[in-house]
Amino acid sequence: MAKNVPAGKQSKQLSKLIEKYYADLAEFEHQRVMFEMGTRHAFHRLMADAGKPHGWTLIAEQEKKVNGKTIRPDGTFKDQMNLVRGYWEAKDTQDKLDAEIEKKRKAGYPLNNIIFEDTQTAVLFQHGARVLSVEMKDPVKLAELIIQFFRYVEPEIEEFEQAVDEFKERVPDLAQGLAKKIDEAHRTNRDFKKAFADFFELCQSSLNPNLSQAAVDEMLIQHILTERLIREIFDNPEFVRRNVIAAEVEKVMLAMTSQSFDRKTYLKELDRFYVAIEHAARTMTDFSDKQHFLNTVYERFFQGYSVKLADTMGIVYTPQEIVDFMCASVAEVLEKEFGKKLWSDDVYIIDPCTGTGNFIVNLIRRIPKAKLESVYKHRLFANEIMLLPYYIAALNIEHAYYEQTGKYESFEGLCFVDTLDLAENRQGELGFMTAKNSERVERQKKSPITVVIGNPPYNVGQANENDNNKNRRYPAVDERIRQTFARDSRATLKNKLYDPYVRFFRWACDRLEGRDGVVCFVTNNSFVDQNTFDGVRKHLLKEFTFVHHVDLHGNVRQNPKLSGTTHNVFGIQVGVGITIAVRKRSSDSKPVKYYRVPETWRKEEKLGWLRDAGFASKVEWTEFGLDGGGNWRQLDASDDYDGFAALTLKSLRAEDTQPIFDQASPGLNSGRDSFVYSFDREELGARVIIFCDLYNAELDRYRRHGRGQNVDDFVDYSKIKWSEGLKNNLKRGREASFGEDMIAHCTYRPFTVKSLYYDETLVDRPGLLRHFWPASNAMGENRALWLKMGGEWPFFSLVTANLVDYLPQGGSQVIPFYVYDEDGTNRRENITDWALKQFREHYKDKKIDKWGIFYYVYGVLHHPGYREKFADNLKRELPRIPFAPDFKAFSKAGKKLAALHLDYEQLDPWELDFNESPGMPLSYHVDDKMRLSKDKLRLTVNPSLTLTGIPPEAFNYRLGNRSALEWVIDQYQISTDKRSGITSEPNREDDPEYIVRLVGQVIRVSMETVKIVESLPGYEGELA
Ligand SMILES: C[S@@+](CC[C@H](N)C(=O)[O-])C[C@H]1O[C@@H](n2cnc3c(N)ncnc32)[C@H](O)[C@@H]1O
Repeated sequence: MAKNVPAGKQSKQLSKLIEKYYADLAEFEHQRVMFEMGTRHAFHRLMADAGKPHGWTLIAEQEKKVNGKTIRPDGTFKDQMNLVRGYWEAKDTQDKLDAEIEKKRKAGYPLNNIIFEDTQTAVLFQHGARVLSVEMKDPVKLAELIIQFFRYVEPEIEEFEQAVDEFKERVPDLAQGLAKKIDEAHRTNRDFKKAFADFFELCQSSLNPNLSQAAVDEMLIQHILTERLIREIFDNPEFVRRNVIAAEVEKVMLAMTSQSFDRKTYLKELDRFYVAIEHAARTMTDFSDKQHFLNTVYERFFQGYSVKLADTMGIVYTPQEIVDFMCASVAEVLEKEFGKKLWSDDVYIIDPCTGTGNFIVNLIRRIPKAKLESVYKHRLFANEIMLLPYYIAALNIEHAYYEQTGKYESFEGLCFVDTLDLAENRQGELGFMTAKNSERVERQKKSPITVVIGNPPYNVGQANENDNNKNRRYPAVDERIRQTFARDSRATLKNKLYDPYVRFFRWACDRLEGRDGVVCFVTNNSFVDQNTFDGVRKHLLKEFTFVHHVDLHGNVRQNPKLSGTTHNVFGIQVGVGITIAVRKRSSDSKPVKYYRVPETWRKEEKLGWLRDAGFASKVEWTEFGLDGGGNWRQLDASDDYDGFAALTLKSLRAEDTQPIFDQASPGLNSGRDSFVYSFDREELGARVIIFCDLYNAELDRYRRHGRGQNVDDFVDYSKIKWSEGLKNNLKRGREASFGEDMIAHCTYRPFTVKSLYYDETLVDRPGLLRHFWPASNAMGENRALWLKMGGEWPFFSLVTANLVDYLPQGGSQVIPFYVYDEDGTNRRENITDWALKQFREHYKDKKIDKWGIFYYVYGVLHHPGYREKFADNLKRELPRIPFAPDFKAFSKAGKKLAALHLDYEQLDPWELDFNESPGMPLSYHVDDKMRLSKDKLRLTVNPSLTLTGIPPEAFNYRLGNRSALEWVIDQYQISTDKRSGITSEPNREDDPEYIVRLVGQVIRVSMETVKIVESLPGYEGELA
């Protein structure tokens, strides 16, 4: 490896230098400079000059890390390729040289080629052994030692692994050496300048308009190093000619080699190093070893030579366990969700930032050999923007195909292109490097991609000044980010939304072009929990049916106890996670499935876990929902609830601006149900007349005798059922009078309408219901939601067009659509304008009206998932209403339910089997009560009639503690109030079949309701 210096000439020159060295020493002695400092200078001069003919440069006191320790030899020799060739270490003449050598050895000084000297003795170590020790005052011996030092050639490396390590270490030096040569060519080589200018323009126009000359220089360096490796190590001499990009770069290199730079000679200087690897590589028959080597080169090349470039581009080789997990997960999702295989005709896969092609190689190995050719040629794509990984990807992927098929075919799916640029739609305007590459890009653009998989770059901004890449904008992708992630974010600082990895997420979602499919990325996962990314979280859930995320953590900034190298799967500082986002339009949205590996796990443990977990379906996920703050988390019911809109003014909290409905009232509480309610209007009238007489008599008695007395002690409890309100009326002297028009319909229990004497005096607590159904107003115009409150019974809601009862056990609330003045005038809509605005804005739909909102609320209140999740809240307070993703679905369902529940008496009864008892005349009369058999299959109306054929599902429509049918059975019975002795008689003389017909109608209502409820989006799960 030493420059070819003729031996004679060499020794003559050296003798002169040694003479000079002695003269210098004498001078120092004369000046009484006997210490290390002075004598070191003399030997430095000798060695520096002696190294020149060999092309070795002496660098004083250069620090070097050896096995984690820093050493600083007095001299380090580097050759023209910037590779370290040897060291020199000077010692004080008073030091004991051997003891000093031992110290240095222990400190980690490499003994492969090093001179230790103290101006008296010089000792040469080579290959770890002491090979020479000379008296320095003997010029012949000293010359012999120096010649031996510069002749040193490192031995071939036996172990391939060792070679890999070595190469990793040397790459930065190698690359810098080449950079110098290229720099020289820029200054002096006209042919090169011309070829470079053309190539530079091509790169700028097709890769990045801001690309700097330095970035293109780097490409050349990558080309030189890689091309040699590919040619020699991978035994692929055709690569440069066949690869569509390599051929182009090669033209520039040819120009460069034409004049002052002879590549062969130049690269010959690398022989010692390359030969070592090549030799070792020859013994490696397993391609995967070589592949591992190349992949390491890819990573280390950038990290060593161009840390900044590695940062901006996110050059990290994806660990095999991650690639495996992701590919297996995608295969599984395709199979499970879509019944497809990786090789199905309509599955088009792309890795948009392929690096070494790791994902594509993995996928190729999963595809049956018989199916592979068509996938490889038509439905598999990969993009890469950096030359070195692009070459490596080509090599790796093409070899993987060769392994499977025995055929070597170039991978036409690979494009040398900026993926994000493809969204710019500047097709036809500029080519993509070469005609062949452009052709490939165009084919890719036309392909209906259904799977996007990969490891996008994920560093903020562009850090490399040389790259001049800071201002790289992707107008189309960035605009899409503005319209989606940024618009739906409450964050003030949104610049992180333009991080490369977020751009790749945006690009990938859009690349599915609305099709069903999968996006599977391993990325920086700050989007999972950082405020800035609320819009990303919302959109992932909006644009995909479900999202799985494996959080591999390793966020050193979040937990300073962690170390990037030890705990992070990529050895970096930011948290990393795998996202599997699936769009399946035929399916309802599902919550995020999240799994986080233990934070303290080391990298190896995390990768081991991924290896064992194997597929996404084997992970023990936790379900996350999107809370009001745009966070993904395990929703504690109350968390969510707080963010929803208050239903009424009454349930408004400090944090609420306005409610959906202005007014609400408890259902009316008569305080004397048996007096004021009846199935029979006439019977009720007669009863109320008696009641009024009795009350007025008491009032009269009170007026005459009771003044000043305690009312509680005064009144006659045997005649009237008193209540607080009635006593107050008595005290106030308010008379009761009967008016036919005060008899109103009232829904006393679900599907049980009775006549009610709706009078202020007799109805103890009428609430605001007279504002909802004023006596003078034609009943029937208004609609209200009747909600069961309290903890004893499960929540229910039922729409009503008439008065409703307070209900036992916690009572009820009534929320009307209209409110009126008491006299029936001044009708107002009870839904606030604020709510209308919120709904219209949230759903971006100006057509939403207040009736739509009314029915939407009714729909939401029927959602089993909602009711179950917020059961506790619903027991405590009036419901709060979320914005379900699909307004229309809920509103439509709510309207259907309302029609069903309001007009149930008009429905065709469910066809039941009438089992009539023989020998008995058929009767529809309920004698005392209807009886349901234990198995709920038979309903006995009376001894003459038993109904069967009741579908079991009918019992699924439950309102509080009973099903609708059981309410009817319970209410339509003959009962006598013990206190008043008043009997409730549900049978109708004018319509004897009413109850039996009602049974059939309520069964139909139940069946229809169950069907509608089951069709609600996200039935039983999250509102969707
Ligand atoms: C993290 S690496 C991928 C590693 C790869 N999965 C592997 O195992 O080798 C990201 C790669 O994306 C490339 N890249 C970055 N920005 C790109 C862009 N806009 N278009 C195409 N490739 C890009 C980088 O050069 C880098 O090789």
